[in-house]
Formats: sequence, C-alpha cells, structure tokens
Amino acid sequence: MAVQLHSDGEAEQVRGIDWALLRRLLVFLRPYRGWLLLGVVLAVLGAVIAPARPYVSKLAIDHALHFQEWGSFAWLLAGVLALVLVYAALQYGVTYLLQWIGQRALLAVRTEVYEHILRLGLRFHDTTPVGRMVTRVTNDVEGLSEFFSSGLVQLIADLLLLLCLVGFMVATDWRLALLTLSVLPLLVIASLLFRAKVRKVYRQIRQQLARMNAFLNEYISGITTIQLFQQEAEQFRRFERLNRRYLQLQRRSIFYYAVFFPSVDLVWALAIVVILWYAAHWLGVGGLTVGTLIAFMQYVEMFFRPIRDVTERYNVLQTALVSAERIFDILSVRQRIEDAPDAVPMPPLRFGIEFRQVTFSYDGVTPVLRDVSFTLRKGQMVALVGATGAGKSSVVSLLCRFYEFQAGDILIDGRSIRKLQQASLRRRIALVLQDDVLFSRTVLENIVFGRREISEQRVWQALQRLGLEEFVKRLPHGLATVVGERGVNLSAGERQLVALCRAFVGEADIIILDEATAHLDSETERLLEGALERLRREGRTCIIIAHRLATVQRADCVIVLHRGQVREIGTHAELLARDGIYARLYRLQHERELAA
Ligand SMILES: Nc1ncnc2c1ncn2[C@@H]1O[C@H](COP(=O)(O)OP(=O)(O)O)[C@@H](O)[C@H]1O
Ligand SMILES: [Mg+2]
Repeated sequence: MAVQLHSDGEAEQVRGIDWALLRRLLVFLRPYRGWLLLGVVLAVLGAVIAPARPYVSKLAIDHALHFQEWGSFAWLLAGVLALVLVYAALQYGVTYLLQWIGQRALLAVRTEVYEHILRLGLRFHDTTPVGRMVTRVTNDVEGLSEFFSSGLVQLIADLLLLLCLVGFMVATDWRLALLTLSVLPLLVIASLLFRAKVRKVYRQIRQQLARMNAFLNEYISGITTIQLFQQEAEQFRRFERLNRRYLQLQRRSIFYYAVFFPSVDLVWALAIVVILWYAAHWLGVGGLTVGTLIAFMQYVEMFFRPIRDVTERYNVLQTALVSAERIFDILSVRQRIEDAPDAVPMPPLRFGIEFRQVTFSYDGVTPVLRDVSFTLRKGQMVALVGATGAGKSSVVSLLCRFYEFQAGDILIDGRSIRKLQQASLRRRIALVLQDDVLFSRTVLENIVFGRREISEQRVWQALQRLGLEEFVKRLPHGLATVVGERGVNLSAGERQLVALCRAFVGEADIIILDEATAHLDSETERLLEGALERLRREGRTCIIIAHRLATVQRADCVIVLHRGQVREIGTHAELLARDGIYARLYRLQHERELAA
C-alpha cells in the first residue's frame, strides 16, 4: 500500500516541546559542536558582562562622584566604556558564528531532503504533489533557519542573562529587587496569552503558504491549458481567495504582536513607577542612593528585552519543531525499491528477456496486468500494441523496475530482475517516452545527461552512425542550442529527437520507445526508422510501442495487449491471418491512414 506524506495540515499537530524531535534536529549541528560551544561561551560572557555595566556605573556615581574622587571616577567611567566595547565585540562574535553555523546546517538539511526525494520510488512520486515536496525543500527547511542560527544559543543566553540580572539586582538592593520583580506575574500572563494566540495563527499561516505553493505549482505548470480554455480570470480569482486568506492570517498575527509589545512596555512603565515611588520615600533616608536608582532603571530595561525575546525564541523553537516534523516526515518515507542483498550487476544482454505470468497492480487493488507472458530474443524488434490503457507502458515500467510486481517474474538472460542491481539494469535500458523531459541546458548536455564517459566526439559519432547528424545541425546552434525549461523552445518533434539521441548514444542493450514517435512527421519518422534499423543491426534489442503501422509492420514480433492481458503474439502477417484483435486494429488504422 502506498505510504503517503502527511498532508500539509496534518503534520502541524506537534504541541509543546517534542524532545525526541529536538534531539534529532540537533544531529545536524553535531559537526559544529566545537564552534557551537565557543558560541555558548561568548554568549555566556555577554550575559555576565551586560548587567555588570549598570553596577559599575552605580559605583562610579555613589562612590567616586559622591565623594568627588575624580581619579577613581575616571577609572570607573573607563571601565563602563570598556564593558560596552567588550560587549559589542562579543555580540559581533556570537552573531557571526551562530549565523554561519546555522547556514551550514541548513545546507546539510536541504541537501539531504533533496537527495532523499530524488531516490524515492515512482510509486511515491505518483501520489505526492510536486508543490508539497518543493515546500518541504524550501520553506520547511527555512523554518529551521532561525533555530539553527540563533534560537538555541540565544535562548540559553537570554535565560542566563535574566538569572545574572536577578543576581545583580539582589546584590545591589534586595528590597528594590523584590519590588521590581513583583510586576513579573503580569508579564508572564501577557506572554502566555500571546504565545498561545501566535502559535495558532502561525500554524495556520504555514498551512496556507503550503496551499498557495501547491496551487501555484500546479497552475503555472498547466499554463497552456489555462490560457487555451481562457481560465485566467477564474484561476486568478481562486488564487486571490488563497492570497486574501493569507493576508487575513498575517494581519491577525500582526495584531497580536501590536498588542503584545505595548503591553510589555506598559508593564515596564509600571515597574519604573514602582521604583520611583519607592525612591521618593527612601532616597537618602533608607540607604537608597542615586547610583542604585540609576542602576535599577537600567536593570529594568535590560530585564524586559530578554523577556520579550524569550517569547519570540519560543516561537522560533515551535516553528522549527513543526518544520522538523515535516522534514523528518519526508525523510522517513522509505518508499523505494531496494536491491536484494544478493543482487548482482547486470551483464550485457546475451539471450533475451522473458515475462513469466507477471501480475501487477499500482495500488494493490485495481489489476493492471494479469498473467502477462512473452519472450523476446536479443536483437529482436518487438512491437507492443493495444488500446490506450491496455497496460503497454506498465509492462515497460516493470522492466525498468520502476514498480514492484505482485506475482510472476521477469527474467533477463534467465535471471530474475529482482536479483539485478537496479542501477546497472537501468544503465542497460534506454527508455524514450512520448513527452520525454528535457532540462534547461544545452542540447549536448541533454544528450550526455551526466554520463561522464560520453564525449562530444562520441555524440557526433553516434549521431552520424544513426543518421541523426543532419537533424542536430539544423538546430539553431547545433549541439550548443540552449533548451528552455522543459524544452519549450523546441518543437515537440525536436524534443523527441533529442530524447531519442539521449537514449541512443549510451551503451544500452535494450531500447524502448513508448509512443516516442507520436510527434514526428513522416519524414523524420523515416529518419528514426533508419536509426532503429542500424541499432538492431548492432545487436540491440528494441521494444516499440507505436500506433503507426509502418513501424509495427517491420517488427519481428507483435504482442497484442488487451485490458492487461496478452491476447495475441506473432508477426504482422500471422496476426493478420488470424483475424483477431490485431487485424481489427490494423484495419481501423489502415482506413484512417488512407483517409488522411
Ligand atoms: N502511475 C499510475 N498509478 C496508477 N494507475 C496507473 C498509473 N499508470 C497507469 N495506470 C493505470 O494502469 C492502466 C494501464 O495503463 P498504461 O500501462 O499506461 O496503459 P497504456 O500505456 O497501454 O496506455 C490504466 O488503467 C491506467 O489508468
Ligand atoms: Mg502508455
């Protein structure tokens, strides 16, 4: 059964702090342990130095200034200045270090996710929207960004700073300290309320963003259809609805922030009022000095910043955990066909291929192929024919081992393909599809397609041998022609020819064309048939799925599939004589081609 990614909403259910998840996340930071430790040390130093500044200035005011000791006053002022400078330097170090570590870790996560997606089986890709995967590689990874780059260390530093501040405050004047801290419950209540609200709205924002990404991906890919059916306005309206909802959610989050920060400031003002009220009573009398008063004003200021930030940091952590859950969600999908432990590399084809009572279904429910059996010998050209949906492409997919079949076996030179290493199997097969994908690079790069052993010279030789040289020379810049995304600037026929060249220049023993001639005009098709003829003479085995008769007629053997079953096998002449499905198909085609 298909394993599916959680839809974009479902994975958002994590609440509180999931420690197991956090630990898995920290694995990505492990390579930077040393640097991270340095970051923590610097941050801790900063946390200690920050509250020392008001303390030193208190000393300067209460002692040096009060007793007019100008010498020590100057020294203490210099001390304050030094603390400010050291603190700034520490901040620089911490920020730079943490951002750098964070970006490195993100790079690692992004690479891992993409690599994982590349290796997932087609079964998975069939059932997962591309937009969702793109969101995982981009937005979700980005969701870890702040956590990796500052969240964790800063959280530690902030908590430490708060602790140090309380220490310094109590040491300076414990009664004033208690009084100042008495406003704390208000702050805690405000923060808790804020956190709950913001968390909810953030989750909604992320879901909405994923929805928008999926929408854009699907509809921009289908732009031709949209324009053809003049659906621009309608699709625009649909997007506008998504977009508006996003705006609403963003506005709600802005509202919470806009309420929260002034509330914090209000509590801060309250703390100042309390301190001043206390000062009005006790200044001079109760041992309260001007220096202490000034120091406390600064403490209070310092105190409120991390409290505001801790709330933020908690959100960063939440975001990271939600993202992490979604990332691990995709990383945990093991949906690919694994090589058997005793799988061997596929040697060059020597005898042939046999399908032995193969039964297959994509979803485990609807049968697609039933008891399919046939053999093809090396060097043969075999045509697979049948109505749309008969199962022709599925036969080919099984041979490439894109999917696992449920019963029967596929034997290559007598060995089950389950016992062959997939990579080596696929190297020996060249598959050309009806709408084969080209990538936005040059034609040469598309033909070579990462196979380093293929030189430009070899490409030319192969093209020459196959009689496709002329075609390439006709392209605007020959092999250097740059193909647009998905090959948009080439005609469908040209795209197919490039895809065919890509398949032919390799060393593949088995060449499969799955309706790969559909876009070719008759002249080009003749060109292609010449090429196929030469490939056959080189001893390569060809499987051709085509509707055009000329191609099928020339095949050594025709296999007729009907609703997932092999119904007829034989040469063109034999099958015509038999007057069955093939003969009927042939007559229909023939009439159509005569009419055309
Ligand atoms: N990736 C897929 N997932 C589920 N069902 C599929 C998939 N590809 C094809 N099918 C179904 O399998 C049947 C055979 O399809 P296919 O082999 O593509 O036929 P053909 O190539 O002969 O037109 C069809 O009913 C089709 O709907
Ligand atoms: Mg097909």
